[in-house]
This record gives sequence, C-alpha cells and structure tokens, in this order.
Amino acid sequence: MTDAPHIPVLRDETLSYLNPGPGKRFIDGTFGFGGHSRVMLETGAEVLGLDLDGVAFGVCEKMAEKADGLHCCRISFRHMSEALKQNGWDKVDGVLLDLGVSSWQLDDPSKGFSYRSEGPLDLRFNQDQGLTAADLVATLPEAELADLIWRWGEERGSRRIARVLVNARKEAPIETTTQFKNLIEGTLPRGVKSTPVLSRVFQALRIAVNEELEALPEALEQLTKVIRPGGSFAIMSYHSLEDRLVKRFIDREKRDCICPPELPVCRCNHKALLKPLTRKAVKASAEEEKRNPRSRSARLRAATIL
Ligand SMILES: C[S@@+](CC[C@H](N)C(=O)[O-])C[C@H]1O[C@@H](n2cnc3c(N)ncnc32)[C@H](O)[C@@H]1O
Repeated sequence: MTDAPHIPVLRDETLSYLNPGPGKRFIDGTFGFGGHSRVMLETGAEVLGLDLDGVAFGVCEKMAEKADGLHCCRISFRHMSEALKQNGWDKVDGVLLDLGVSSWQLDDPSKGFSYRSEGPLDLRFNQDQGLTAADLVATLPEAELADLIWRWGEERGSRRIARVLVNARKEAPIETTTQFKNLIEGTLPRGVKSTPVLSRVFQALRIAVNEELEALPEALEQLTKVIRPGGSFAIMSYHSLEDRLVKRFIDREKRDCICPPELPVCRCNHKALLKPLTRKAVKASAEEEKRNPRSRSARLRAATIL
C-alpha cells in the first residue's frame, strides 16, 4: 500500500509555496497515503505526518521504516501544537493541509463515506472513537437533523429529508448507506436528480461526525504559532464552507487593523501575522483535472508567516 501510485493534488503548486529542502521541518496535517509528504521527504526535509485514519497512520508508519525524517502521529490536525511538542519539535517551516476525504477512503465500503456502495453508515475518519453517522441519525431531534443537513450540506430539501428519516427510524434503525440512500431518494420530487442531493447530505453528515468545521478554525489559529517567521502554509479545500474559513482567516490575519470600517480610529491593535502567497484560490489545470477528477473541486490558498 505504501508504494501505491498516488498523484497528490496540486503537487507542484503546493510545494512551490512550502519550499521544502534539507534541514527544514514540516507538518503534513492530512497524511493520507503520503503523496505530498513523500515529495517533501525527497527534498531532504523532515515531515511530521498526522492523520486520524488508522489505515493512513499505518501507511505512514510503514513509510517511516524506510524514509529517514518521517515521523507519524495518529491525531487530529486540530491538535497540531500538541503533536509538535510530543515529537520534541519547537517550530516548523511549514504546514500542509489537504482537507477532506481521500479517494481510497471513498472506495472503502467499511467506512460508509459513499452512497455508491453498501456499508455501515459510519463516516468517521477515526473509526476507533466518537459517534457514527448512524448514531446521529438515530438520536438527533428532527429540527437539529434538518439544520445539520441545511448548514453543512446546503441542501434545500433538508426539512423534508429530516422528517422522512425521523419517521423511518421509528420503524427500524437506519444503519447502512443503502438504507439511508433509499430513504433520501424516496423524498425527491419527480424529475429531481438524486446524485447531487445524496452528495450534499453525505457531506453534511461527514462534516458533523468529524466536527470538520470546528477542527479547521482551531488548526488555523495555531498556524501562526507553530510556523516560524518566514515559513508558510498551504491549504487545499474541497468545498466552499472550508474554503471560506481559510479565505477569511488569511484576509483577517494579513491586516494591521481589523476594526469595523465605520470606526474612524483603530482600536484593535491587531498586527498583521501573515502575507498571502495566493491572491485568489489556485485551481487545478485542465490537464490535472482530466488526469485526476478529484482535483476538480480543489482550492489552494497559501501564506507566509511574518
Ligand atoms: C485528501 S486526504 C490527504 C491526501 C494526502 N495529501 C496524500 O497525498 O496522500 C485527507 C486525509 O486527511 C485525513 N483527515 C481528515 N481530517 C483530519 C483531521 N482533522 N486530522 C487529521 N487527519 C485528518 C483523512 O483521514 C485523509 O487521510
């Protein structure tokens, strides 16, 4: 598995912002199959690879047996400062986050990430801890279930879907991706395509189960503390909710003043902590999109720490 041919998304662009090299240290907060880490290691840099997924962590440990300078930790990137300390490092030269779910995770039915194959309605990156998607669907009150599907899936039929789920769970527990998929498809008005709705609802559940939109802001706040001045970070998002958080973080931290515009004098004493390296989000080229369809939704933003 370690040697699986894996093309990391926006590889060259990411590396040009992180600029790895001998003697430098990086955190790869989303190790996955180690595609990006491998390229950084090849430059002579050291990498601390973090991942919540047991399979990804195993891949990291196996790769570390052969690759000098690779260290692995099964921890969320929301705890990157702690991971750094545990590894005996002070600061790093850069941090990479390639957010979301990998294609091999989508293809593994036992994780339940995809409505395309039958599996447990789980959707956790770390299957050793926390509530599963089935647990949420079984226990959340109808209004909360609807809010979750609306906020994190931006799905307009959220109320209708929540009602159907709550009625169905009174009859029998909703435990598999297929049961869940069939129930959602049953809510759709005639002529409405099911694939985009299913994608949005699965996205919402995944975000909720893994607390993704809580973990990301916590990680962002640590970047300016764990990266030494002159170092940089590169973050790839795959949906607008994540990209918006990254964009707003960079927009705020690049300024010397974050007072509301109507205030005539600055009262915040905020100092710019970073300089953006990307004016707009960088997207994959048409050629990369063709080669790797997953890169189609990638949005890369990077900045250097002042
Ligand atoms: C898109 S993949 C990364 C792919 C990787 N860049 C590569 O080239 O192989 C995202 C990875 O992040 C992991 N992940 C998601 N949320 C995480 C979190 N909060 N902390 C640590 N790892 C996380 C997932 O388990 C998955 O392996």
